Amino acid sequence: MSGRFVTLEGIEGVGKSTNLEFVARWLRDHDKQVVVTREPGGTPLAERLRGVLLESEGKVPPIAELLLMFAARSSHLQDLVEPALARGEWVLCDRFTDATYAYQGGGRQLDMALIETLESAVQGTRRPDLTLLLDAAPEQTSGRRSRRGTEDRFEREATDFFRRVRGTYLDRARAEPARIRVIDAARPLPDVRAQLAVTLEQFLENT
Ligand code: TMP
Repeated sequence: MSGRFVTLEGIEGVGKSTNLEFVARWLRDHDKQVVVTREPGGTPLAERLRGVLLESEGKVPPIAELLLMFAARSSHLQDLVEPALARGEWVLCDRFTDATYAYQGGGRQLDMALIETLESAVQGTRRPDLTLLLDAAPEQTSGRRSRRGTEDRFEREATDFFRRVRGTYLDRARAEPARIRVIDAARPLPDVRAQLAVTLEQFLENT
């Protein structure tokens, strides 16, 4: 029995970290062996690339940003994600390629067809089995973003950037409604968790 690949997505400040913990706990409570990981990151090489991508003060050309995301992803897939799935474990990943479409495609306005080409080259046929999209308007999350203190290279972007990111996420959810499940993250936390639990319940029933 091979494992399942579950990803969590959303713009910054939407409550991804706390909800990631909730999903991991929920799956473990349902007797799943869960590996929690993140992108960019998850392996020593990919974590180094994450440092470059998030901390760099200098200008990173958008195309370099895109290639570095996929470079990190190839290491992560080869050394962590694929082996865990092959062992029958569930991989719960904080962001994956939907983030590349949303941030590099929507936010930076790079060519979506190029992203598709890189996706196939790096991932083959590997795609998430379930994607939980925590959705809220950037206006509702900006307070949470700025309260965190120092901002990384993405968090410094303007509201317009996050509007495009959110728009791309929602377009993708409309195109793939069975895989990408939209969770209304503007609701109070208990309500967000209830939506997540229902969605996970349905996924388990059909899997
Ligand atoms: P986070 O995981 O702490 O939210 O930070 C990761 C940042 O990297 C976040 O701003 C989104 C960005 N990102 C991309 O731009 N493209 C990608 O493909 C991924 C995985 C993340």
